[in-house]
Amino acid sequence: MPMSVDWPISEHDFAAYYRFAPAALALRECVRLKAVRGIELPEPILDIGCGDGLFARMAFPDRQSWGIDINPAEVKRAQATRTYSTLICGSVCDVDLPRGFFGSAIANCSLEHVPDIHKALSNVRPSLKDGAPFVLIVPTPEWTAQLATVELLRRAGLGDLARAYSEGIDRVFRHIHMLDEDGWADILRPAGFEIVESRPIVDRRTSWAFDVLLYPSVIGWLVKKATGRWVISPLLRDASERVVWNLLNTMSSRVEAGPGQGEHLLICRAIPSGGTSRR
Ligand SMILES: C[S@@+](CC[C@H](N)C(=O)[O-])C[C@H]1O[C@@H](n2cnc3c(N)ncnc32)[C@H](O)[C@@H]1O
Repeated sequence: MPMSVDWPISEHDFAAYYRFAPAALALRECVRLKAVRGIELPEPILDIGCGDGLFARMAFPDRQSWGIDINPAEVKRAQATRTYSTLICGSVCDVDLPRGFFGSAIANCSLEHVPDIHKALSNVRPSLKDGAPFVLIVPTPEWTAQLATVELLRRAGLGDLARAYSEGIDRVFRHIHMLDEDGWADILRPAGFEIVESRPIVDRRTSWAFDVLLYPSVIGWLVKKATGRWVISPLLRDASERVVWNLLNTMSSRVEAGPGQGEHLLICRAIPSGGTSRR
């Protein structure tokens, strides 16, 4: 069986996420956390599209970081957890940021949602110190191809249904930019960034488990639409965590990791002004 880049998943991470998020989302965040830890992100860190801040809290605890998010409800939640030393509510495309201030930046699954991506990157670049690392986690163009439902529909000769399912999922997740590594390099370079390293994450095993877990996660999605939160009672979640964790591991151990990748983790560098790239 091909080695999985994502597994084993940490039960500690899964339990922490599952308390507040649907199992499908918790699984993907665990994979991203595993991939991000160990990457040196000098302070202060700029977290772009920070959401509720849980990712930052778990990926780089006790580091000085600023969060930006366009959604006031997310900013309010992040504020309550005191994850960030400074929080900005607004669009990454036009918020005022201090110049040459940040030692690094991260955008965990946020930039693929921003229509004017060039404006966003051009606004971020001057706020970073020259040479600062910038980590992007973004979906690949083929991320839905290795979902269980899509693969099974294709195998059954139902290609149109498989395509409709893929497109429906992208609409739900509001993905605008789904590019390969060269596509990202072309967008990053004019804004003053170069890709130093690209790591494939979210393999077929994760994608299958994610897709199966999406079905019960619809309940969480409806709860979020109604209340703004994924989960009504974290205590009830604690009671079911062990069962879901065991199910997840049993299910995923039966799936081959496969060659595809659902997301890129791109480690970029802010090209020094007037300087040359390393490539
Ligand atoms: C999929 S969530 C990821 C949240 C967070 N990074 C995490 O790891 O949990 C994407 C986030 O990007 C934010 N976002 C989307 N467009 C944005 C923009 N133009 N400026 C700032 N934040 C934005 C959304 O409000 C949302 O919180």
